Amino acid sequence: MSYRTIRDLDPRGNRVLLRVDFNVPLGASGMTITSDARIRAALPTMRALIDAGATLILASHLGRPQGKPNPKMSLKPIAKRLGELLAKDVVMASDCIGGEVVQQVQSLTPGDVLLLENLRFHVGEEKNDPEFARALASLCDIYVNDAFGAAHRAHASTEGIVEHVSEAAAGLLMEREIKYLSMALREPARPYISIIGGAKVSGKIDVIHNLLAISDRVLLGGAMTYTFLKSQGLPVGDSLVEDEKLDLAAELLVDAGNRLLLPQDHVVAPDLDADAPIRTVDGVGQPILDGWTALDIGPKTIVAYRHEIAAGNMIVWNGPMGAFEIEPFAQGTIEVAKAVAASEATSIIGGGDSEKAIQIAGVADSITHISSGGGASLEFLAGKTLPGIEALEASARSKQRS
Ligand code: 3PG
Repeated sequence: MSYRTIRDLDPRGNRVLLRVDFNVPLGASGMTITSDARIRAALPTMRALIDAGATLILASHLGRPQGKPNPKMSLKPIAKRLGELLAKDVVMASDCIGGEVVQQVQSLTPGDVLLLENLRFHVGEEKNDPEFARALASLCDIYVNDAFGAAHRAHASTEGIVEHVSEAAAGLLMEREIKYLSMALREPARPYISIIGGAKVSGKIDVIHNLLAISDRVLLGGAMTYTFLKSQGLPVGDSLVEDEKLDLAAELLVDAGNRLLLPQDHVVAPDLDADAPIRTVDGVGQPILDGWTALDIGPKTIVAYRHEIAAGNMIVWNGPMGAFEIEPFAQGTIEVAKAVAASEATSIIGGGDSEKAIQIAGVADSITHISSGGGASLEFLAGKTLPGIEALEASARSKQRS
């Protein structure tokens, strides 16, 4: 992969449009931010550009407003939080394109920070409309993409804009994400242990395929387990099963041989409810009975997975081992988080739920790299091309030719 980074640029005196992923979780009112991790993740790039004398124009989406303005998805609360984190004023733009925004941009001086309003208030963003991309590009001299979390989207601000700017580069977060996730796919240290969890085989099938091809062990957990167990003719009670994926699961088990490990025991309950009676079922001797749903891996599996994780020199983890948001079903996921943190291995955590689990377990500081992108890291680990990254590479190639 070859692309330019902010180290290849001279931003002094230039207007830099920095695409960030400030798609942060908000409280019900849309006014409170429940995790500012994504804002913090982009701080090094913002600070580097400000220190280098750039004028910063920040662009992000938030939520899925379907191309229409929606006050509940305004970036205003983010401007406030960002101002606190940067310890400087962040001007909130009235929109992300248009005459008023152009005037706001013209009144900026080097070191100033302007946050554009939600890109997805315009249909042109998700449609990757060239006119919309051109309007965004006209606001800046240089385009920098630090929105790894949105790099799997071919949108105007992540892909289309690159054709309309003379300079395009990756920010420091984007660079770090590509560095670690590439490390997981190419020449990883061995033994290489992948841990894959989550509800559905269908959402993770490409990742399972890709990681099985390069890992020494793949440890499976989460509700997707029960599609695999059912494909072996084992009773899974009322556990979640994707019947249309049974053949695929059976084929994967044959291809993977002893490299793919399934949970040996299960925590089951009649309902997904913190007060439901729970039982541990030994997968070897006891069936999961009808009326019972498997909601976490059991203690024997935790011991076995801990052992595998401790032996690893490279660990990649994506997806929880159970319904970890509800306390009685959290233990498997939390213990896996602690085992990954305790290991000496290079550890890479896909975003989303695994990141949440790492935070709940309080072990984030012991992880080598926690991705800021859920869907994006999943697609990267599945070996797919991410349009946001591909656009930066194409721009670097054309720069080299000219
Ligand atoms: C994410 O949260 O995964 C990114 O910000 C992308 O958001 P999207 O799934 O709404 O495109």
